[in-house]
Amino acid sequence: MALTINSTYTLANGVEIPVVGFGTWQTPDGDVAENAVLDAIKAGYRHIDTAAVYKNEEGVGHGIANSGVPREDLFVTTKLWNDAHGYEEAKAALADSLEKLGLDYVDLYLIHWPNPFAIRDSWQEKNQAAWKYMEEALEQGLVRAIGISNFRTHHIDSLLETAKVKPHVNQIYLSPSDIQEDVVAHNEKHGILTQAYSPLGTGTMLEVPALKEMAAKYRKSVAQVAIRWSLQKGFNPLPKSVTTSRIIENIDLFDFELSAADMAVIDGLKGSGKVASNPDEVEF
Ligand code: A2P
Repeated sequence: MALTINSTYTLANGVEIPVVGFGTWQTPDGDVAENAVLDAIKAGYRHIDTAAVYKNEEGVGHGIANSGVPREDLFVTTKLWNDAHGYEEAKAALADSLEKLGLDYVDLYLIHWPNPFAIRDSWQEKNQAAWKYMEEALEQGLVRAIGISNFRTHHIDSLLETAKVKPHVNQIYLSPSDIQEDVVAHNEKHGILTQAYSPLGTGTMLEVPALKEMAAKYRKSVAQVAIRWSLQKGFNPLPKSVTTSRIIENIDLFDFELSAADMAVIDGLKGSGKVASNPDEVEF
């Protein structure tokens, strides 16, 4: 069936998630975050992605509260930061995020990074302990789905050693510049939806000549071509913007379709912009 602005993916536990989400990484808290979320919801986004470390959960929460759209019609994600890998720590972190967001539940809660610098000698059991709490939060209805972010295949395998519930999503850096095929294949094998953060390569894809040519051909913008490619790959893109016109543009994706030949051209753009950070080497 053709994709529309109302299309959803169905997670392994039956929860529906809108195919395009609104990213808020690097969006400042306060009015900027609130207005960006208000613009996004007005433009038709029903899926908002934030994180404790973005330090904008309060502004995002105000946008949600003031949008006029019923809570149950929105899909809200937040993430557990690197200082909260553990059972009690995860419990406190989720409570704190819910309070900042002003919500009783989030639709999706993610472990943000698999291997924080401070616990590099013990990330395996600390992820497993955080996950145990997240499974309980799922049972208690504090979250509707649980997942991971920036996990590579060995991090997923380690978590699965003790998980009762498999992650519903894995949110990774994913643009034409870095498709992370091995992670995507591993996600698919385990029924994990691949979410794509920074589908514009944090802006680096916008200058790629092949994408510029394609955008002219389809009479769309480069951003729209890159996000549409992500959708047609079956990913769940989360474009970020604080600019009203771009927020509108980035979900105006449903009046064109990239041909198979053009999809293949974009698949070949590896290395043309930013690539993913190695989660085993990040210094945070
Ligand atoms: P801004 O937020 O100032 O509008 P990504 O989603 O890959 O992380 O990319 C986000 C970056 O790309 C931000 O700098 C954002 O700027 C910019 N951006 C988002 N949408 C567009 C667009 N449609 N055209 C140009 N730049 C965009």
